[in-house]
Amino acid sequence: MTDAPAAPELDLSIVPLPPYRLRMGGAHFKRDADFVAAGVRDVKLLRQRAGLGRRKRLLDWGCGAGRLAIGVKHLLGHVADYHGVDVQPELLNWAKDHLSDEHTRFTLVDQHNARYNPDGQATYDIPAEPGSVDVLYSYSVFSHMLADDVAGYARTIARILAPEGRALMTAFVEEDVPDCVENPTDYLKLDWKGALHCVRFDRRYFEGLVWDAGLAVEEFVHGRETDGQSMYVLSRRDSRDSRDEQP
Ligand SMILES: C[S@@+](CC[C@H](N)C(=O)[O-])C[C@H]1O[C@@H](n2cnc3c(N)ncnc32)[C@H](O)[C@@H]1O
Repeated sequence: MTDAPAAPELDLSIVPLPPYRLRMGGAHFKRDADFVAAGVRDVKLLRQRAGLGRRKRLLDWGCGAGRLAIGVKHLLGHVADYHGVDVQPELLNWAKDHLSDEHTRFTLVDQHNARYNPDGQATYDIPAEPGSVDVLYSYSVFSHMLADDVAGYARTIARILAPEGRALMTAFVEEDVPDCVENPTDYLKLDWKGALHCVRFDRRYFEGLVWDAGLAVEEFVHGRETDGQSMYVLSRRDSRDSRDEQP
């Protein structure tokens, strides 16, 4: 039996990296190699589970300082259109200044979020045309939103996804717990504090919210993402209905 080939080292010099203080995700992203590897890992996940490829239009909703954009540049070079959207000016502007190119753009929005943008507007806009997004990625964003906001943004996502598009997102989801709890005590051994640090959903309740918003669950993987979040792959319910009707 031969040894498996070692994973190729990532050349950390080819794409600029945000300063530590702009990296969302806590202590495990302080090492440059870990930060880049996490972006690359998620691009692979999107490729396997959501059909991402170089010709696809990718919307990174809640992009922070562009962790996924850095993963795209390392693994694929580019996609047809990478569009990062966030409410935090410092992070977004760093990404815009250092990562933008002909295939990569960033938009600052001003939506309300009690944790990240408490003075923002109470709307559920995401800047994309209806049906224009092949792959939507939203990592650790619904984990900081209450039920009404999840429902509102899920309706927007159902509208902007392309008919065969996929949304890959993470959230704290468990079986047989109260519908929606902010900062649950004794959950996952972390000390949740501050507005919307952790919002945990009951699985049936969460899936009902996204279903009512027009999205169908294609895949659910429990508890393997950051801090114990679960992963969903969602599709547009109307396109799944028509898929099911095919002879
Ligand atoms: C925990 S961070 C995750 C960042 C990034 N997705 C990652 O995995 O590295 C959550 C991000 O969602 C952003 N966010 C929260 N509410 C938002 C909204 N309504 N629209 C866009 N971004 C939002 C925050 O500003 C923050 O950057």
